Amino acid sequence: TERTFLAIKPDGVQRGLVGEILGRFERKGFKLVGLKQLVPSRELAESHYGVHRERPFFAGLVAFITSGPVVAMVWEGDGVIASARKLIGATKPLEAEPGTIRGDLAVNIGRNVIHGSDAPETADFEIGLWFQPSELCEWTPADQVWRVEP
Ligand code: GTP
Ligand code: MG
Repeated sequence: TERTFLAIKPDGVQRGLVGEILGRFERKGFKLVGLKQLVPSRELAESHYGVHRERPFFAGLVAFITSGPVVAMVWEGDGVIASARKLIGATKPLEAEPGTIRGDLAVNIGRNVIHGSDAPETADFEIGLWFQPSELCEWTPADQVWRVEP
């Protein structure tokens, strides 16, 4: 199986979209193994978005992501990294398909509501950056056999 790191950005929290977004991943059938709300430090934000350090939007991105509470999550399931990216939709919300989170709920690239890891290596890095191992739960949903063929 596989894990991914997702984060509802400050715009999603401020707009009251936390329940809506959690519900989409729950209903899909992925398993929530970590969840917390925090205002990220500058150090955390700069590490998280380190690949974008040289980009013109970097300073604004870090200022935004540290501007208020973020809901950080780890979700588990076969293929969850790529599937979550599909459920999230394209980076530019106006190009995101209807039915996706960004397609349904956002209009602007700088306020695109949610982050999702883009590959297994970045998922491992981001989970370790945002969560202590003790903050992640190993558990089996009671209805697991009704979602995944044993
Ligand atoms: P994340 O899941 O947040 O990493 O988004 P992504 O993987 O779809 O996009 P990418 O990693 O390329 O960019 C990271 C974030 O930087 C995006 O989600 C945007 O919020 C922001 N970003 C990317 N490109 C631009 C841009 O051209 N202008 C602005 N203002 N923000 C950008
Ligand atoms: Mg990205």
